Amino acid sequence: MQAVLELHGLSDVEELIQNSIHSDVKALSDIPRYLLTLGGKRIRPILALLVGRCFGMQRPSAALLNIAAGIELIHMATLLHDDIIDKSALRRHQESAYAKFGLGSTLLAGDFLFVRAFGLCSRLDSSVISWTERACVMLTEGEILEDGAIQEKSVEDVVEIAKRKTSALFALAAQCASHIAGAGADSVEHARHFGEQLGIAFQLVDDILDVRATEDILGKPAGGDLRERKPSLINVLWLKSGDSIAHELLVPNGKAITDESIKVGLSTVREHVVVDEAKRLALSYVDGARASLAAAIRSSKVKIDDSGAAALSALVQFVTERDW
Ligand code: IPE
Ligand code: IPE
Ligand code: MG
Ligand code: MG
Repeated sequence: MQAVLELHGLSDVEELIQNSIHSDVKALSDIPRYLLTLGGKRIRPILALLVGRCFGMQRPSAALLNIAAGIELIHMATLLHDDIIDKSALRRHQESAYAKFGLGSTLLAGDFLFVRAFGLCSRLDSSVISWTERACVMLTEGEILEDGAIQEKSVEDVVEIAKRKTSALFALAAQCASHIAGAGADSVEHARHFGEQLGIAFQLVDDILDVRATEDILGKPAGGDLRERKPSLINVLWLKSGDSIAHELLVPNGKAITDESIKVGLSTVREHVVVDEAKRLALSYVDGARASLAAAIRSSKVKIDDSGAAALSALVQFVTERDW
């Protein structure tokens, strides 16, 4: 996918990101640079560039490149902070920045990336700036909403968390790109909704992958959400199913979770009916995303680029085709 997108600005986005992570204090740029060397799919800037192309931008404008890069910088900041919050030793198949550089430096590097992202956004119009502020607030809210007893979380809570912590940036990418391309207010709102639904689906698939995928695919051991008793879609559905193993593993009882209990939990839950239930829910958001994209295209004030629309549709398909 990235090869196709070379023509459409992904390398310019990469350059903007590289320039943004520079600091005179080398220790500060070392952390984002390390995260970049680990890889990453760049799905958020790709989404922004493809939405721009769908709405007729043959070549991405400077504004579109800035917001695409800014969103990836915000994403990088959330990954640094998320690994501290989740105590994750691995990220993108290798040692997480938190494990390699320590909590304090990783926290500061995340803050640095947020500020650099706003540096890029500040070159854009006031709508883009306030939408970006809102998305950053939402993702912070999403991360904090994960706190609290898992047995009190509902599936609606899970979706609300996904909407805030993950889909905020997907929605922002689609909203800003359609706005910059001149799609018009109605179409921009549908595009925002498209990104939101896609982002929810992406997070729900991620929750399923946490128990279904292998370490090779995940880049970290499976069952991380079980170990942390996270209110992931799988954990909440499994606990609600009344399974005694789920209850023993997920409801805090003062005892530490052992590797053996994670192993037993994983082998039970990965074949459990809740996985199919979770997949159905994730797919319903994919359908919602497709419907909103169609509405955005119908109401656009600018001519639609059919190859851009087809590439966007392929991106939606990609979300459902990860090995779950
Ligand atoms: C990981 O996002 C965090 C989630 C929202 C699930 P990505 O899966 O997009 O991470 P990278 O950037 O490709 O590593
Ligand atoms: C993803 O959170 C959302 C972020 C804001 C980073 P997760 O904790 O579910 O993501 P992974 O699985 O660690 O990438
Ligand atoms: Mg997390
Ligand atoms: Mg995490």
